[in-house]
Amino acid sequence: MAILVTGGSGFIGSHTVLELQEAGYDVVVIDNLSNSTEKSLKRVEELSGKPVKFYKIDIRDREGLEGLFRQEQIDSCIHFAGLKAVGESVAKPWEYYENNIGGTLTLVDVMRQNGVKNLIFSSSSTVYGDPDRVPVTEEDPVKKCTNPYGSTKAMQETIFTDIQKADPEWNIVLLRYFNPIGAHPSGRIGEDPNGIPNNLMPYITQVAVGKQPFLRVFGNDYPTPDGTGVRDYIHVVDLAKGHVKALERIKAGCGLAIYNLGTGKGYSVLDIVKNFEEASGVKIPYEICDRRPGDIAENYCDASKAEREMGWKAEKGILEMCRDSWNWQKNNPNGYAG
Ligand code: NAD
Ligand code: UFG
Repeated sequence: MAILVTGGSGFIGSHTVLELQEAGYDVVVIDNLSNSTEKSLKRVEELSGKPVKFYKIDIRDREGLEGLFRQEQIDSCIHFAGLKAVGESVAKPWEYYENNIGGTLTLVDVMRQNGVKNLIFSSSSTVYGDPDRVPVTEEDPVKKCTNPYGSTKAMQETIFTDIQKADPEWNIVLLRYFNPIGAHPSGRIGEDPNGIPNNLMPYITQVAVGKQPFLRVFGNDYPTPDGTGVRDYIHVVDLAKGHVKALERIKAGCGLAIYNLGTGKGYSVLDIVKNFEEASGVKIPYEICDRRPGDIAENYCDASKAEREMGWKAEKGILEMCRDSWNWQKNNPNGYAG
């Protein structure tokens, strides 16, 4: 029996496929390659020494999925596939709802028709909106999101919750990721954004290799210690390991379970710049700019539920995250393109 990983050639997916293989699981990956390349999986194969079964299938393609379930013995699914750019989702809401919601509904329908009712879903801290208090716990309210991408995550959580309620044979783990950064310590797999990065760490690494002249710090007048935005950054390898732990919850018959995956520590934009400079030895020039619309002052989590119930805890600290992000970018200045 294999684990189906949708979106498995992407950033978090590729790291998770490697951890799954290292934990002894058989893995089948599907991806439409809209935001990734199969090269990431070739590198996973190099690192694990095991082949990765890959099918280029879109999660909206019902026939493709049906064929896959006939061909492979699938036991559980880890569902990463989706569009994830906040700004793009504001410009293209239909595309985001159709891909993320439409695709998820098709996937889940084909799964249940094949009697596969175990699923782990990539949710996001974005479902907490602008939280009333930090650290946020899983009991804190899910709030209206400021962009269609965030709304698709909240809606998918609702869909999964309702499906599991109606049919308790489902075991579903909703993992709310905080801010994943870093890369595999080998420097062979990592984050490879298209065009100019939106997120802080890939932007900083591009400044460090000279692809961007300086970092724009979006606002220094937030009610935080140094005025810049505070987030809970988590090493992608720790995050990937969280999925292996979540599979054990599924095997134990967890029903519906929700976990925050973060370190529980908040770092400001300027903290990240300082730690990156220390880890890389490269100076990051920056300018303070206006706030970015839709951004919040701070968000970090209480991750103790994941530790209590799954025995999972983030192990890698901020310097290691910066070091591994830099190691990946330095060795692959153009990502997987060479
Ligand atoms: P990614 O873009 O690298 O990976 C997503 C993968 O899904 C890509 O390989 C893409 O080609 C694929 N995909 C998109 N639509 C598809 C479709 N219709 N059919 C098949 N494949 C499709 O992004 P990531 O950072 O690895 O994120 C993985 C998941 O985690 C996403 O659901 C994302 O929303 C979620 N998430 C990411 C973050 C983050 O900051 N990176 C934070 C919280 C949640
Ligand atoms: N920032 C800058 N300059 C940049 C980019 C970011 O100052 O060039 C700041 C932001 O204002 C924010 C912090 O760095 O204070 C982090 O920004 P990111 O864009 O890296 O991350 P966000 O917290 O805004 O959001 C990201 C994803 C969301 C996801 C969330 C939690 O874009 O989709 O992490 O996982 F929901």
